[in-house]
Amino acid sequence: MIDKETVDRILDAADIVDVVSDFVHLRRRGSNYIGLCPFHNEKTPSFSVSRSKGICKCFSCGKGGSPVNFIMEHEQMSYYEALKYLANKYHIEIKEREYTDEERQAQSERENMLLVNDFALKHFEHNLFETEEGRNIGLSYFYERGFNDAIIKKFHLGYSLDHRSHLYESIKAKGLNPKFAVDTGLCIQSDRGIYDRFKGRVMFPVLNIAGKVIAFGGRTLKNDPAKYVNSPESTIYKKKNELYGLYQAKQAIVKKENCYLVEGYTDVLSMHQAGIENVVASSGTSLTEGQIRLIHRFSENITVLYDGDSAGIKASLRGIDLLLAEGLNVKVLLLPDGDDPDSFARKHSASEFQDYIAEHETDFIKFKISILLEGVENDPIKKAAAISDIVRSIAVIPSEISRALYQKECSTRFEIEEKIIASEVRKAIEKNAEKARSAQNRLNREESRATDEPQPVSAESRQTVETPSSQPAETTTPADQTQTFGDGVFKTYETDVIRNIAKFGMCDFCKAIDESGNNYNISVLDYIRLDLESDNIHFSYLPYVKIFEKAVSLIPEFKASSASRITEIEAECEAALQAGIDEIRNKYSNMEDIQREEKNLRDRVTQLHNKRVIEFQSSFLEKKLCSDPDDDIRHTALNLISEKYQLSKLHTKYAKIESDFDRLSDLVPGSLWVWKDAILAHQIKEIQNQMKRATTPEEIETLMLQMSELMNLRAQFAKLMGERVIIP
Ligand code: CTP
Ligand code: MN
Repeated sequence: MIDKETVDRILDAADIVDVVSDFVHLRRRGSNYIGLCPFHNEKTPSFSVSRSKGICKCFSCGKGGSPVNFIMEHEQMSYYEALKYLANKYHIEIKEREYTDEERQAQSERENMLLVNDFALKHFEHNLFETEEGRNIGLSYFYERGFNDAIIKKFHLGYSLDHRSHLYESIKAKGLNPKFAVDTGLCIQSDRGIYDRFKGRVMFPVLNIAGKVIAFGGRTLKNDPAKYVNSPESTIYKKKNELYGLYQAKQAIVKKENCYLVEGYTDVLSMHQAGIENVVASSGTSLTEGQIRLIHRFSENITVLYDGDSAGIKASLRGIDLLLAEGLNVKVLLLPDGDDPDSFARKHSASEFQDYIAEHETDFIKFKISILLEGVENDPIKKAAAISDIVRSIAVIPSEISRALYQKECSTRFEIEEKIIASEVRKAIEKNAEKARSAQNRLNREESRATDEPQPVSAESRQTVETPSSQPAETTTPADQTQTFGDGVFKTYETDVIRNIAKFGMCDFCKAIDESGNNYNISVLDYIRLDLESDNIHFSYLPYVKIFEKAVSLIPEFKASSASRITEIEAECEAALQAGIDEIRNKYSNMEDIQREEKNLRDRVTQLHNKRVIEFQSSFLEKKLCSDPDDDIRHTALNLISEKYQLSKLHTKYAKIESDFDRLSDLVPGSLWVWKDAILAHQIKEIQNQMKRATTPEEIETLMLQMSELMNLRAQFAKLMGERVIIP
């Protein structure tokens, strides 16, 4: 763990232009730098680096970020590895934070387990190449299967000798704590003592994304019914978050912008040997969300390889919906007559294998349509079921454009009107949203029961607008009827608000007067926070919730560093003023000239002062958010900050193009009104729906009252938005 102070020093020292220049040839353009994007192939530069913002971004592929982000992405490192890289570059000594006892305990357990595993890996490798048993049995088996030395070494394959406890004895002899031999699962404790789990097997080590050995798979060479034995789950091995081969594949996945997914160890090895290195294996089980996210960190595109047995294919089609829902572009590749990638690779040359892939890769939805169409053309019932099935897959795809394209495809292939498919997809989407909502509500109910909170509106994932408290109690929205909405319904509106926070959160926004009559500044963040609190509105989109909370938590730190930075700025301005005055005195002798020049000078210095303060205030949050350890915060903040200037409805009236900063006094309240207005509109619609179902006159009357209340509020908003009232 690097202590926070050191992290801050590293982030402060890292200059984005300097960091990127180590990998990209940059040229100056205006106040920015540009170069050829290192993350994709291009001929004209679209990779832009802003020194003042401390970020880089490719306007073509979207990759980039703060110095830490850039290094993580470019070097395929973790957050901490990237920090260490930067510390090294800037000669900053890393002070590791003291661990708490608990952390030390967990840490030393982890470290010891990794140490024992690492020893075992080397031990197995040694057995394979340097012992007679290993060479005769293990190595000759690998050779027979067609694996060469390079691939055996690259994947650190090994052999576990056929003795009861040879590994265990070696661990002890090496002076390692034998407790961890059992904890890692390498050895098994039984009534009759401790023995080696993998004895007599060839060994496939499983590396995590950082290249550490976290588990092993051992294949039998005898008639053992257990073909593979794998390490059990442990502190260091959570199967659902690991993929075999990812460590060796990650660079290639980024470079090729695609990841092949296969079933097993030997498939990965064979494909590597055929020159296809962007490949990972799920190790015989269906993919988990954690594994999909892992792939998604490196690429948007995935190709699933199937062996050609069609029963297996139909069964596994469903699992692919998870990949689609995660927003990945999914292709499939069907191998001929019962071949798996391993056997196929053995029958063909590397270039034949690569050609086969290029020719046979198909889009998943198209592939699924073909499979489902087989033999149902003349059976309306089966055909309807097939259509529902494909509709379910299309409905989980997050991109509207992709959905539209697939609807079209589906309509053509099934010979059904497109609008019918579209309406079915919409229904399926609503059904999914409904499911998600009721799951969320259930969760919320359980939460509020658990915390015994009388107020039903507390979770960030719910939004409420309450009518102002000055209104008579009967016409306010009763607490049990406050609207709760699923995740991200108002995301578009929230985006405009959170962007102002990410870009200008700490900037002074307006002045207020406290009880003793003193002036004080309210920041953009304070203003928005107070405003949202007073109406009990919360962000619903999770990354925004995180950014908001992070920003609020950074206020004390901002205040602390603000004081010293402002002093520096004042000193700088004072020096500029003195120098200017001296120059004027030397240059002019006439008093009038001197007074005029001095006034100009003071104006310029005031401008400089304001500029410096604004630079500091706006860059503080930008830098912190774009370098945050949380992936959601970092990526989302980067997108918000580097978004190209877009005209939204609110600003099109102004002919004059001003910078966002100059328009803050309109933008900040404006974005809040628009958001609240959308919530009100939604509530009005809800009430209209309730009115349709209402039966008694009293019910209708109550609803009418609520409705007119909400309409009133909307009218007030409309007026405010129209007049664009400037904040005092
Ligand atoms: N697997 C496993 N445990 C088993 C069977 C399979 O963990 N008892 C996993 C392994 O990761 C294996 C993958 O599922 O690589 C695919 O299984 P299979 O096709 O049976 O193994 P292959 O890799 O093809 O191994 P081989 O060709 O040596 O039989
Ligand atoms: Mn096989």
